[in-house]
Amino acid sequence: MKAKALFLFLGLVLGGPGVVAQGVEGLWSRYCAQCHGPRAQGVRPYPGLQGAAPLFATPEGRRYLVLVVLYGKKGEAGLMPGFAQLKNEELAALLNHLRALLSAKGDLFAPEEVGRGRGLNLTPDQVKRP
Ligand code: HEC
Repeated sequence: MKAKALFLFLGLVLGGPGVVAQGVEGLWSRYCAQCHGPRAQGVRPYPGLQGAAPLFATPEGRRYLVLVVLYGKKGEAGLMPGFAQLKNEELAALLNHLRALLSAKGDLFAPEEVGRGRGLNLTPDQVKRP
């Protein structure tokens, strides 16, 4: 019981409430790795995400990254589904995990920044790269 409480506390401090149950590595392998690979290098025919690094550093790029994870994206390689069912905390943690994998510049994502992309009801082909 004590150990569980400590784990919960550490999870809250380190990851925010959304990622307590499942670390961000677990979220990445569950939702993203099947197409983008454990290190975002891509799993054929799906794309690696190296080219996304500069997007973390501009307002339009960050907005786009949020829309991609919420609503998905239709690209030459196929279809990425949206992940609006995940919590803002979880999506922010996943974007920050990708930022770390790519050694991208730019601020960390806060859950609020993800939340601002909600409610638009976009389809994957409406999400366009800036
Ligand atoms: C079913 C396969 C699939 C899954 C699962 C998937 N993606 Fe994608 N992802 C794609 C495809 C296809 C594209 C579109 C590539 C294109 O535009 O040509 C894409 C595009 C992206 C892009 C935009 C890249 C760019 O440079 O414009 C990001 C960021 C991204 N995915 C992140 C994620 C994250 C984070 C997850 C997990 C929450 C995830 N993806 C899950 C297939 C997937």
